[in-house]
Amino acid sequence: ARTAAVIPAAGRGTRLGPGTPKALRALNGTPMLVHAVRAMAASRAVTLVVVVAPPDGAAEVRTLLDAYPLTGPDRAELLVVPGGASRQESVRLGLKALPEDVGTVLVHDAARPLVPVDVVDAVVAAVRGGAPAVVPALPLADTVKQIAPRPDAAPGTPEPVVGTPERALLRAVQTPQGFDRGTLDAAHEQFAGQHGEEGATDDAGLVERLGTPVVLVPGHEEAFKVTRPLDLVLAEAVLARRRA
Ligand code: CTP
Ligand code: MG
Repeated sequence: ARTAAVIPAAGRGTRLGPGTPKALRALNGTPMLVHAVRAMAASRAVTLVVVVAPPDGAAEVRTLLDAYPLTGPDRAELLVVPGGASRQESVRLGLKALPEDVGTVLVHDAARPLVPVDVVDAVVAAVRGGAPAVVPALPLADTVKQIAPRPDAAPGTPEPVVGTPERALLRAVQTPQGFDRGTLDAAHEQFAGQHGEEGATDDAGLVERLGTPVVLVPGHEEAFKVTRPLDLVLAEAVLARRRA
């Protein structure tokens, strides 16, 4: 069976600030999404990449990607489908576009354009080795505090602390997350629309709710998510260092 990568790229990038949808913003002259597609296609295992575009932007994204054809060892088939209002919904729509013969699925944020191919290959290898759900992860630098939900609190007001989980037992998770295709399809079908307007932010979390085991493999610092303006500075510096 084939291995495919689904790339949710339908977000606006609100935290990055106003402007072009985040995935289409340039990093050192090349759109973030193009970097992300290349990062998936760089794995020899990946023969199909499904890009999930903004709901009204599939044609525009297709045209953009056609200007950056995948060639040589990175060749892979490319599909573009329209996404939804939440990341969870976008991934669900991407999964629906997969052909029957796909047995392993990677889900990779367009917002993690610089993930090294070794991470992709390690995730694929673990799924092919029999793990139904595999997530790249790193220990945390910051200690984390838990707070109580306060839906009506004004931003900036002091927040009471509920607890401090032991940092050594926490991991920050990245993508690509890799799955047995049937397992991920089942999780997304069962929990569609069940995480409110925002949706679930993590595919493996849905698989956990099925009661299916999820394992972590080592992630990489360069798989960080471009979320806030400072992340653009970091991403461009990483690219410049790679070219040097
Ligand atoms: N995503 C998506 N569809 C949505 C929302 C998000 O495909 N409706 C994708 C984003 O394009 C991104 C990934 O999910 O590649 C991770 O989401 P995030 O980093 O939160 O991106 P945005 O939602 O675009 O950013 P923000 O939350 O700051 O608006
Ligand atoms: Mg978001």
